[in-house]
Amino acid sequence: MTLLFKLAKPLLHRMDPENAHNLTIDMLKRFGPHAPVVDDPRLGVSLFGLNFSNPLGLAAGFDKNAEVPDAMLGLGFGFVECGTVTPLPQEGNKRPRLFRLATDEAVINRFGFNNHGHDIVLDRLKQRVGKPGLVGINVGANKDSTDRVSDYVKGIRAFASLADYFTVNISSPNTPGLRTMQNREILDDLLAWSLNERDEAARHGPKRPLFLKIAPDLSLQELDDVVDVSRKRGIDALIISNTTVKRPKSLHDKRMRLESGGLSGKPLYPLSTKMLSEAYIRVENQFPLIGVGGIDSARAAIGKIEAGASLIQLYSALVYKGPALINEIKKGLIERLEKDGLSSPLDLVGRAVEDWGNWPIESFL
Ligand SMILES: Cc1cc2nc3c(=O)[nH]c(=O)nc-3n(C[C@H](O)[C@H](O)[C@H](O)COP(=O)(O)O)c2cc1C
Repeated sequence: MTLLFKLAKPLLHRMDPENAHNLTIDMLKRFGPHAPVVDDPRLGVSLFGLNFSNPLGLAAGFDKNAEVPDAMLGLGFGFVECGTVTPLPQEGNKRPRLFRLATDEAVINRFGFNNHGHDIVLDRLKQRVGKPGLVGINVGANKDSTDRVSDYVKGIRAFASLADYFTVNISSPNTPGLRTMQNREILDDLLAWSLNERDEAARHGPKRPLFLKIAPDLSLQELDDVVDVSRKRGIDALIISNTTVKRPKSLHDKRMRLESGGLSGKPLYPLSTKMLSEAYIRVENQFPLIGVGGIDSARAAIGKIEAGASLIQLYSALVYKGPALINEIKKGLIERLEKDGLSSPLDLVGRAVEDWGNWPIESFL
């Protein structure tokens, strides 16, 4: 697949970005690998009762409809997050809604939760029952829903027997008002209902970990609230972060930066990693963090772990570097463990948190 990507990249990058993505999914369905790779045991991480063969996962949004989880595991990811899935199928915003900022190695999207809905995604996951590899489901609310909390609860109920974990996604910038669910009172209510549904489902099957995915655009006071409520309610992990609505000064593409939507990829790295480190300080090891945003190299991946992430995810860098990046990151991680005489990636978690403390958030905007 690495060679195929190298050959196909010039063509894919001349196409409309959304068509290129759909073609990629199609190619993966036809020609993608079908079984997870065997990882170096030193990369293994056990958390939440799950055994991750390596700490690098595919972030939500690439495989919104669970069409290619096994192919992505086969490319070397240690886990794959499908979704965001909403109860009812949804078209999302009108096209164009996906933009490449090639000089910045970044992406802007304003998809707005286009997805096939619970029923279809559920059928796809049923077809892979018994297959190896960890697949999580990221759940969301329909745009027109009159009871958003209930949409999340429905997601947890629907996927309880098939998902290895759940992510409650309240941080997409493309569904109006969704990010207000990060406010203390609404979040408390959402987590209470979601965890209750998860626990209810666990009476008839395994107890699945529940993660919360947040935006990088929270103020530190808002982050205080999110962490406080998350600790009190007892979620299993925070995923930091989703895309940003900010347009950092560092962006070169002056035309594309005007497109509305969430920015991801390389320019998101400093802001999302800063927020991760701030969350790490506040969480005080009550639960692990999952770091995502702008990882595009082994160095960036290790930096994310050192800023507080026990697991990491990426998406946008695949657009520019292709699947070879996955092995590059795993190789770099092993080299680092060898160099420092460490036995697990977890030994690196949080080592550089203090360095991030020297930089105010404003310096990354
Ligand atoms: C095209 C696109 C679609 C996305 N869709 C979702 C989504 O449906 N749900 C979600 O939680 N995150 C979504 N994300 C955010 C990613 O999961 C990730 O948090 C963000 O892109 C930062 O990581 P990256 O810089 O490695 O891409 C999407 C990102 C992109 C680029």
